[in-house]
Amino acid sequence: MAGKIKKILITGGAGFIGYFLSKHILDTEKDVELVLVDNLQRGKMDTDFKKILEDRRVKFLTLDLTDPASYKELGSDYDHVYHLAAVNGTKWFYEMPQETLRINTLSLIYMLEWFRKESPKGKFCFTSSNEAYAGALNAFGQLPIPTPEKVPLVIEDTYNPRWSYAATKLVGELFVINYAAKYNLRALIVRPHNFYGPRAGYDHVIPEFVERITKRVDPFPIFGADDTRTFCFIEDAVRAMQMLMDSVKTDSQPIETVHIGDFEEITMKKLAEKLFAIAGWHPEKLDIKQSPPGSVKRRLADVSKLQSLTGWQPQVSLQEGLKRAFEWYRAHPKK
Ligand SMILES: NC(=O)c1ccc[n+]([C@@H]2O[C@H](COP(=O)([O-])OP(=O)(O)OC[C@H]3O[C@@H](n4cnc5c(N)ncnc54)[C@H](O)[C@@H]3O)[C@@H](O)[C@H]2O)c1
Repeated sequence: MAGKIKKILITGGAGFIGYFLSKHILDTEKDVELVLVDNLQRGKMDTDFKKILEDRRVKFLTLDLTDPASYKELGSDYDHVYHLAAVNGTKWFYEMPQETLRINTLSLIYMLEWFRKESPKGKFCFTSSNEAYAGALNAFGQLPIPTPEKVPLVIEDTYNPRWSYAATKLVGELFVINYAAKYNLRALIVRPHNFYGPRAGYDHVIPEFVERITKRVDPFPIFGADDTRTFCFIEDAVRAMQMLMDSVKTDSQPIETVHIGDFEEITMKKLAEKLFAIAGWHPEKLDIKQSPPGSVKRRLADVSKLQSLTGWQPQVSLQEGLKRAFEWYRAHPKK
């Protein structure tokens, strides 16, 4: 007798996380029906994504999730729903904060309404962001480092359009927690912390450094050289997401919010140095500049909850991940 087919929906399936999550699911789940939804606002129908779509187990729907009519196309009775679709990328928060607010919030409300009616036995994953609590550090001057899930979510300045995105994640978390409680849904909130790798777009420190290195920019500008971040390679990140969704430990009420990230903290200057070494080139001079406005000094997620729920460990070292990202960006320069 054939096994049960697992039905999985990924919104934002053509995007950075969506692509790698799809690939990981197809590589690890044999009996799966994978439905990918994207309006291709940011996700790309490139060679990599087309390869995913060639798989017989995959169905792709070009839909705008802010349009209520789209939801008739989704079908029903999914086992897992990963809701990744959102306006993402700092450039957009500044250029179209009103659209960031509208698209992210409206699509989540429609998704939750559809989910509770059409897949009430399934499990829902909402991708929030570390941006939802980043304002607390600036506003109060401190946060525990490493930062656990249970910290205040803060919008530092409602007049700064940068925080439009964080606001959608803050409100989004409340929607998911309260829908899950009210309708007894299985759901999960994950907060990605700086996922990186190939195909991550160009609005990010790693692709920006690679571009400057490729163009041999000298003096080499580094914004916030002493600011620290962690970087989680995308294959490790999507594995963590799948492990959390598969775990029965994340089935109860109240639902879990879980940080996903790496623990190797690195300054922007050291990150640049690692990329110089990979490229085999070093600028004569560094042009150290102030951090971008609104940027936080230090960000390090406490991922002990993720580890205790799933036993997850990163498998790709920063050195290896940077090498793979560097090679991809060198082969796919910004147009
Ligand atoms: N990449 C990270 O490190 C990171 C960090 C924090 C949070 N997140 C969150 O994770 C999710 C996925 O992030 P990503 O890096 O893959 O972003 P991404 O921009 O690459 O992917 C999002 C996808 O959603 C699609 N989309 C946007 N609006 C849509 C709509 N109305 N209807 C249908 N599709 C729509 C876009 O075309 C895009 O392909 C987002 O919710 C993002 O906020 C990501």
